Amino acid sequence: MRQIIGGNWKMNGSTESGVLFINEMKALGSFDAPADIVFFPPFTLIPLLAELASDAGIETGGQNLFWFEKGAFTGEISPDMLKDAGSTWFIAGHSERRHVLGETDEIVRKKLEAGLKCGLKGILCVGELITEREADQTEMVVRRQIESALDGLGNVSPENFVIAYEPVWAIGTGLTATPEEAERVHSLIREWVSTIIGQEFADNLRIQYGGSVKPSNAVTILSKPSVNGALVGGASLNADSFMDIINSVP
Ligand code: 13P
Repeated sequence: MRQIIGGNWKMNGSTESGVLFINEMKALGSFDAPADIVFFPPFTLIPLLAELASDAGIETGGQNLFWFEKGAFTGEISPDMLKDAGSTWFIAGHSERRHVLGETDEIVRKKLEAGLKCGLKGILCVGELITEREADQTEMVVRRQIESALDGLGNVSPENFVIAYEPVWAIGTGLTATPEEAERVHSLIREWVSTIIGQEFADNLRIQYGGSVKPSNAVTILSKPSVNGALVGGASLNADSFMDIINSVP
């Protein structure tokens, strides 16, 4: 299965740093990379960078979207608008949207459904808080997030849908799940997805790990059989470290 490495820039980046990043990615050989690459700049940079990135073998996505097509929703971005801007991907349910901006499982489900229905490819993020982990609730929480998001999703194929397991306590903290822990949760996710959607889909589903992935830990994480890529935050802001992670794909 071809791995997929995502770069989530969060609320970072400018026109100048974005153009530099894409040019450096090209110089470092992104076009021949051993994995699919998608990056998620802020909305404002999507039109410019999506065009530059397509030449670099990199797809571009939106970090978020809203589930209505248009209307009186000040500040929101529709799936069609993301597409129009040049995106081919979107993220639904990132932990910062869930825990900083208050998105519920129901909101995440609506976003996922709307984005996929519009023809965008989606990454669903799931993961437990540190308090949930310490209370031995990792499986319960991640399973609930997945069951809720996939409920009634309809036609979805493994080419246009990815799950990212991002333990919230590992995001931006320098802490990572051990490769064994990531593998264990990823295998469970695959099992749950197989009961909801089907075995063949689950066998072909790419499950990314996210949470302080860096060049120094990427090889061990990406070598695990049930880890099919990474969703990278901080280390994706720099082309050298992002390409190092991409080149760590076995
Ligand atoms: P960090 O790699 O900075 O921990 O962020 C991970 C993340 O949130 C990717 O979506």
